[in-house]
Amino acid sequence: MVAVKALVVPSFAKLNLGLEVLGTRDDGYHELRTLFQTIELHDDLRIQPTRAGIEVACSHPDVPCDASNLAHRAAAELRSRARRKSGVRIEIEKRIPVAGGLGGGSSNAAAVLVALDRLWGLGLGRSGLHPIARRLGADVPYFLTGGTALGIARGDEIYPLHEQIRAHAVLVDPGRPLKTAAVFARVDAELTPRGNSLTISRFVSSDLSEAFRFGILKNELENAALGEAPDLAESTRRMRVILRNEGAVLAQMSGSGSAFFGLFLDRDQAAAAQKTLQAAGFRALLTKTLPLERFRARTERALRGIR
Ligand code: C5P
Repeated sequence: MVAVKALVVPSFAKLNLGLEVLGTRDDGYHELRTLFQTIELHDDLRIQPTRAGIEVACSHPDVPCDASNLAHRAAAELRSRARRKSGVRIEIEKRIPVAGGLGGGSSNAAAVLVALDRLWGLGLGRSGLHPIARRLGADVPYFLTGGTALGIARGDEIYPLHEQIRAHAVLVDPGRPLKTAAVFARVDAELTPRGNSLTISRFVSSDLSEAFRFGILKNELENAALGEAPDLAESTRRMRVILRNEGAVLAQMSGSGSAFFGLFLDRDQAAAAQKTLQAAGFRALLTKTLPLERFRARTERALRGIR
């Protein structure tokens, strides 16, 4: 018999609060050290078991619904791993900007793995799902954990941090999708032998003042992203100036871009920054960080069918 129960699960976006590219790897990927942070902004995934087949529907016209969709691939991988014949229909209500460095596709894939693990009663849990997540993409394993976490290796070895960052974020989506692989390919031209700069390690381990701590973080993909999209250089410069003037402790691109964010310790300052950016013609939205315990609670409620 086919269960008819459907689950609606949130699929959160992430920011890279810091991202260091340490070098190239034999597998063609790059060795990273990154500070991941989930935010409240999320897609909703309605996941409905069916008799057979994998179907994906998405509210956003630019998202492919075929087997190239990462949520589709996640369901297919899990189904073959579990040797199941059953099917699933996945409806994605998209709010996370597409190809913006916010991990939307990877987050969708992880949410599908977690939901199907529960719906199909596989009992794999986070550790059992991790190897499947890694095969789907470097960012997917992080979304099995969420919150403030350190990512090393390809960004797929995840260490949740004891200190969970609570802050407000103003996010600007320039509506300019960037291809991660193209941005990383450009990084190679910039890679130079380097000492161990340890900025993320300093951030995590030191008792520097709040504002100063965030000031040492950097996204080392940002230059390459702007090389890929030189048309964004001027607007990025303007956004950074506005966010800094409004009191952001950190203002930079997320991941391989092109979404740009400012991080604020004070909500009123964040709201003022959003207004100023909107007045300057930017599409800015206000959100906040989602610490690990909130990420887990929101996911668990959804898995229990509580809305
Ligand atoms: O793993 P995923 O498919 O998300 O990565 C997209 C592309 O980004 C990879 O094909 C690779 O070119 C690049 N990448 C990288 N090093 C990483 C993560 C991604 O070079 N650590």
